[in-house]
Amino acid sequence: MSELSIFSVSLAHSTGLTHMELIQKSKDLNSLAKQIKSERKTIGFVPTMGALHSGHLSLIQRARKECDIVICSIFVNPTQFNEQSDLEKYPRTLEADSKLIESICDYLFVPQSVEDIYGKEITLKEFDFDGLENELEGEFRPRHFQGMANVVSILLNIVTADKAYFGLKDYQQFKIVERLTKLIQLDTKIVGCPIIREANGLARSSRNELLSEAAREAAAVIFYSLNYIKEFHPFLSIPELQEKAKGMIEGIMDVEYLEIRDAETLKEITSWTENNGVFISFAGTIDGVRLIDNIRI
Ligand code: PAF
Repeated sequence: MSELSIFSVSLAHSTGLTHMELIQKSKDLNSLAKQIKSERKTIGFVPTMGALHSGHLSLIQRARKECDIVICSIFVNPTQFNEQSDLEKYPRTLEADSKLIESICDYLFVPQSVEDIYGKEITLKEFDFDGLENELEGEFRPRHFQGMANVVSILLNIVTADKAYFGLKDYQQFKIVERLTKLIQLDTKIVGCPIIREANGLARSSRNELLSEAAREAAAVIFYSLNYIKEFHPFLSIPELQEKAKGMIEGIMDVEYLEIRDAETLKEITSWTENNGVFISFAGTIDGVRLIDNIRI
């Protein structure tokens, strides 16, 4: 490993048992991955944008259970933000992040620059996801999924992991990444991991940190109303339940969308039964903070 420009993050735990290494160049990460593979070890990869919380930890823990070597990346990808101000505001908490994962992760990849990932000039590939990228979040965040898919494809090509782990809170992202690996013919298996929730049902997100205590409590209404749809879905029509659930949230939050969709195509459905599973997806803001959530039936 010495020829690789790898730096130890100050990770020596009081136990002395942990040793996560920081890698800052993609070519070093690629050499490392080749070396691991030559030793016939499996790689589990967890790509993130940092500001890590228990949701991310659950992905890393799952990778730890299923693979020999766990690699996590932290890269705030500029091409998936629609607003420059959102990119600038995105929390960057590298030191706390490293501490949080040091005992369960083997290598942490933090690219030293955007150029290390994209080269001198950012040229994005245009992937055809059969319209998946234009539904739901795609409508409100144009180009977001193309930017996300570009960075994920670059990262997956560098890491050549056996398995890569994604949270199902970003279900649409998960479906698009599944499609992406088929398009670019990668062998990496994409694993979707369940949403981790706070005690009141609010889905864990880095953005929850931006909420006041009162807003955090009030946002419990999201999970409550999604469950309401789940519970009553056989008895009421789709538009009826959609309106009722929206009504529960409005007044507490600004609803961007609350949609009942086909879990595979993400297209609208007209009956509870003729589909590939039902996916209920929400986006809205409270305290100026945008939150998303979903459940499947
Ligand atoms: O889910 C995220 O944090 C990001 O979209 C990802 C997958 C790390 C790509 O930047």
